[in-house]
Amino acid sequence: MIWLSFFVLISYIFLCKYWKHLCFWRRKCVTYSRPVPLFGNLWSVIFRKISYPNKIKELYNEFPQNRYNGVFELSKPKLLIRDRELAEDIFTKNFEKFSDRKPDGLLKLDSLLGRNLYFSNHKDWKRMQPCMDNCFKNFPKENVFSTISLTMESLTNYLLEDISKKKQPINFEAVDFFRRITNDVIAAVVFDQKCNSLRDKDNEFFKMTRQILKTEGATSMKMFLGDSLPIFKNIFNAIPLYPTNVSEYFNDLIYKKFKLEDSPFSHLLINANEVNDNLSRDDVLAQVLSFFFIGFEPLVKTMSFLAYELALNVQMQKKLELEIDRIFYEDSDDRVTFENLSKIRYFDAVVLETLRKWPSAVQIERICTKDYILSVKRQSECGIRLEKGDTVLLPVYGFHHDKRQFPCPEKFDPDRFLNKDLDEILNTFNFFPFGIGPRRCLAMELSILIVKTVFFDIISKFEISVIQHTEIPLKLSKTTTHLHPQNGIYLGLRPRK
Ligand code: HEM
Repeated sequence: MIWLSFFVLISYIFLCKYWKHLCFWRRKCVTYSRPVPLFGNLWSVIFRKISYPNKIKELYNEFPQNRYNGVFELSKPKLLIRDRELAEDIFTKNFEKFSDRKPDGLLKLDSLLGRNLYFSNHKDWKRMQPCMDNCFKNFPKENVFSTISLTMESLTNYLLEDISKKKQPINFEAVDFFRRITNDVIAAVVFDQKCNSLRDKDNEFFKMTRQILKTEGATSMKMFLGDSLPIFKNIFNAIPLYPTNVSEYFNDLIYKKFKLEDSPFSHLLINANEVNDNLSRDDVLAQVLSFFFIGFEPLVKTMSFLAYELALNVQMQKKLELEIDRIFYEDSDDRVTFENLSKIRYFDAVVLETLRKWPSAVQIERICTKDYILSVKRQSECGIRLEKGDTVLLPVYGFHHDKRQFPCPEKFDPDRFLNKDLDEILNTFNFFPFGIGPRRCLAMELSILIVKTVFFDIISKFEISVIQHTEIPLKLSKTTTHLHPQNGIYLGLRPRK
């Protein structure tokens, strides 16, 4: 009997607390998507009826006339922003009130990971950001371009040999294929290491990368659950991200194996640090590892979806081929430079359209750190106060698939961005593949350079094609919050005639 009363009491307290949460938006007079108890607006994601990116799109489309509306991620209320001007106001102009990505406690994920700029809040971000910013602004473009070109030459030569040995085109799964390529590019550009992960499938560097990447799912899950069910936050935080031996092995590997001074990137960080004296050696390592923690999968996904679109849109691939050939033809030295690559405007348009249709970050969030008044702009609004701890969510996937800004959004159409500067695009379109405001991705320019250089080499030597196993249209995974193909992206590769 005592146990039963205790159980009823606990359930009552829990339900009252939960009910208070569910009334959050009603109390603030904000139109909201009706939540299902315990699951909020995510029940269809949790029961795998819909992928997370498509859910974000659905929530974005639910109240097309509004500038914002309320949503619930499980029990967590979030303000979904649907208006560019409002997004600028919150993410850029009022950055001081929305400087953080996640509540503080959530970011103590791991001694190394927790130091990373992406996972840092408040003072730590301000202390480290200028060094990182300087490093990404001043990276030696020509040098990086030629390092990637050399890496790609070794990889594509191996592919050509393999095709000629087998006397038939290669079929490949794009995510795995571009993970190997991204691994080798990062190994060369950041760590001054040479590998060929297409040939030496289990080389040491790739094994290590895989170890780090394995934690990515766990990291997101920990943050997602800790954020959505705050009462369990401490329990989630107590679960380590890596088994201790992996984490120790990994730290050892970084400290002893790589000479940070040899890499253009780490070198820049160290130099910036000498001037500012703001980063400890561990901080530098944590930032260098951003390439795995933060940058790796977005690069892989962008390249995989780009390959998929080129295979489907043969005319566009041909157009790129012609542009690339023209550059080779025009270049008297028969040596392609970074400057020449930049002249292919169509290339930029193709990469940006890939990032529009397939943005690897389908949503971006900020936590309110100081109260903010959202003033009334429309008759239907009643003016609300966002308080410390409230979350705002920018539904990137929704914006990018809104037909009012991007007619026929499911169509891959690089002409939308043709002959427009990146700055112009970022300032005029509802286009946020790299985020928005002072916490926007620092590696935007570098990432576009990497994708273009990798594809420059592939397209100058191969044709990418659809094969029997290519899924059309592509289904998105329903088991992850990331943009990920459900059944892989299978494509063919044959040398150009
Ligand atoms: C195609 C490739 C990439 C895409 C689409 C991408 C996208 C993003 C996005 C959406 C954010 C969050 C921005 C926000 O919250 O407003 C971000 C942050 C960040 N990205 Fe990237 N990223 C890419 C590659 C990289 C690479 C290669 C690195 C290398 C280290 C990198 C480093 C970072 C860092 C350090 C941040 C945190 C910035 C801060 O909090 O101040 N990213 N990225």
